[in-house]
Amino acid sequence: MEFTRVKLALTCLGLITIVIIQILYISSKLGVNCDIKDVFFKYEIDKNFKSNEILPAIERRRRLPDALIIGVRKGGTRALLDAMALHPQIKAARREVHFFDQNETYSLGIEWYRQQMPFSHSGQLTIEKTPAYFASSITPSRVYQLNKNMKIIIILRDPVIRTISDFTQVSLKLKKLTNKFI
Ligand SMILES: *[C@@H]1O[C@H](CO)[C@@H](O)[C@H](O)[C@H]1NC(C)=O
Repeated sequence: MEFTRVKLALTCLGLITIVIIQILYISSKLGVNCDIKDVFFKYEIDKNFKSNEILPAIERRRRLPDALIIGVRKGGTRALLDAMALHPQIKAARREVHFFDQNETYSLGIEWYRQQMPFSHSGQLTIEKTPAYFASSITPSRVYQLNKNMKIIIILRDPVIRTISDFTQVSLKLKKLTNKFI
């Protein structure tokens, strides 16, 4: 019994000695004047250096769109957006922003529009999809004013199939609505 206690005490003493040696070694490596602020300051300089040298190339921020997808209901605009967004160099706004076609959103300004965009790197293209831009007469001049090089991507679909698809969806919605009220 006594013997195991002595062994335990000796082990503890040994461990404490090792820790003290490690502390002494580390503090001798860091130098006598080491203080935590110095270490932090050095780290800050490193960070600034990196941000000047490397970060601009991979900087992520919200950017105004380079291209707009326009079209009509059931025309396949969502499918096109989803397919394009699979490309690593393309970032797509996830919802229809209705910036150019609605006066309430347009009056919120370009900065607001930018905030609706996803984060992207400088090498990536940003795209936004609002089918309603297609049928809005005020949209073209507003888009031109923002960026006269804006790419417009329009998706068309066989008009008969599109109409059937639209009719099916609308009538199903109506059915659901009327069922609710019965
Ligand atoms: C939206 O603004 C435009 C230009 O200022 C104006 O011509 C148009 O009538 C407005 N539309 C609505 C619905 O207020």
